[in-house]
Amino acid sequence: MTFTIAIDGPAAAGKGTLSRKLAEAYGFHHLDTGLTYRATAKALLDGGLPLDDETVAANVARNLDLSRLDRAVLSSHGIGEAASKVAVMPAVRRSLVEAQRAFAQKEPGTVLDGRDIGTVVCPAADVKLFVTASADVRARRRHDEILASGGSADYDAIYDDIKRRDERDMARADSPLKPADDAHLLDTSEMSIEAAFQRAKSIVDAALKHK
Ligand code: DC
Repeated sequence: MTFTIAIDGPAAAGKGTLSRKLAEAYGFHHLDTGLTYRATAKALLDGGLPLDDETVAANVARNLDLSRLDRAVLSSHGIGEAASKVAVMPAVRRSLVEAQRAFAQKEPGTVLDGRDIGTVVCPAADVKLFVTASADVRARRRHDEILASGGSADYDAIYDDIKRRDERDMARADSPLKPADDAHLLDTSEMSIEAAFQRAKSIVDAALKHK
């Protein structure tokens, strides 16, 4: 028997940090499913393959090795843009969802984060969290993160980019971004990472007791 925590939400809401902290606290495996879409896009770009051929992209997705997803090489803006294009393709989603479901079986438990974990990938997850924050707060956080790591950032461009990605993720016909009916909503606009973590942890602890 395993225990699954599904974490969904829009870009830059704090899902990644929260997921890593939860996985560490419970000794669970963690999969950032956004990286699977990013790795598919990067493999196409590296291979000089088209980003708009569903059969080719699904083939690449089927052959991904989930144990070799490197956040550092997949984090660029260009790869994020390309990822959101392959993420609208049903055949790509089918391949990646299959691999994500297999990951979710790992013992003793898993944390998966993305856009459709509670609704499509793991509808029977033990805990579902939908993590949000206002677009302004998310843009501000991303902006400060880039500055802190020594880069240069333009707030307005980041804000526009976040709005555009929200739009694309929510308007997509296949597996759009939306909270599952039984998800706990966690709005982190006015919350520190630590406060969000404590809130999530109390929800997980309660579910573990009833397992
Ligand atoms: O969270 P991210 O920026 O790494 O996600 C990259 C792209 O993949 C983004 O456009 C949303 C998409 N995605 C998705 O459609 N389903 C998921 N479960 C995770 C990410």
